[in-house]
Amino acid sequence: MAATLKDIIEKAAAVIVERGHVVAFSGAGISSESGIPTFRDRGGLWDRFEAGSSGGIVGVIASYPEQAADILEELLITLRNAVPNPGHFALAELEQLGLLDAVITQNIDNLHRDAGNTRVHELHGNIYRLRCLACGKKGFRKREEFLAEFDRLIHVMRSKRISDIFSLMPSCECGGMLRPDFVSFGEPVQELHDSVNAAERCRVMLVLGTSGVVYPAAAIPGRARDAGAQIIEINPQKSALTRTAHYYLQGQSGIVLPKLVEEVIKKLP
Ligand code: APR
Repeated sequence: MAATLKDIIEKAAAVIVERGHVVAFSGAGISSESGIPTFRDRGGLWDRFEAGSSGGIVGVIASYPEQAADILEELLITLRNAVPNPGHFALAELEQLGLLDAVITQNIDNLHRDAGNTRVHELHGNIYRLRCLACGKKGFRKREEFLAEFDRLIHVMRSKRISDIFSLMPSCECGGMLRPDFVSFGEPVQELHDSVNAAERCRVMLVLGTSGVVYPAAAIPGRARDAGAQIIEINPQKSALTRTAHYYLQGQSGIVLPKLVEEVIKKLP
């Protein structure tokens, strides 16, 4: 008889308690229950705007200039309303229990930090951090400040005074232009060295809400497995990484992850 989800959660929890040193590897799926659309699911951003699958949000704006303001406005509304969900908080609890060493995320929404995780490697950057195009200096923007600037930018885009957009972009002390520090397609990912190190040192990797199709990020669970980690995947549907998982928990991370952490707590000595 096939093992039930409850049985697999039970086994995965025992592995976490026995081994410790967990690292989480997350994708857009963990934020979908916070209202942020994924990319490749039906109705996801790249499902709706095909140009995004190769050019990211910059490619979408370049390919659909007439819809750019509407697309950005939709993104602004989702970001403004997004708060961490029970899946994010479950990871923060694992860190507080001393079982989670780090989160490696492909997401740029800052929700892991908002939930309370302190060691977060953001491979694709962070939309609330700004980077100077001239001197490279980086700095976090207050979320509300960032969202207000984003709002003004959309207003200018609607009024078609595109030339004004550059005057709206914040500038660095050096005079250079600042841009949100997320990684566009074709740009190098960030914190890859630290992320691979964390993956190779961990004893358990939680693979949460990712289709596992974008490299080099998608190579990280394989590096953990090759280094001897047990891989536990949580996803409502199988992904390109499911074949590397020792345990596959089928379901939404906002529902399954809290159950897994609850089981871990029951098993703690
Ligand atoms: N809980 C867990 N997983 C979920 C949930 C949920 N509630 N909802 C959807 N998923 C899963 C989907 O089944 C899918 O496997 O999340 C995954 C989302 O996959 P993608 O949309 O491809 O997102 P991701 O894997 O993070 O994409 C990687 O691609 O375009 C780039 O920069 C972008 O960081 C992104 C990268």
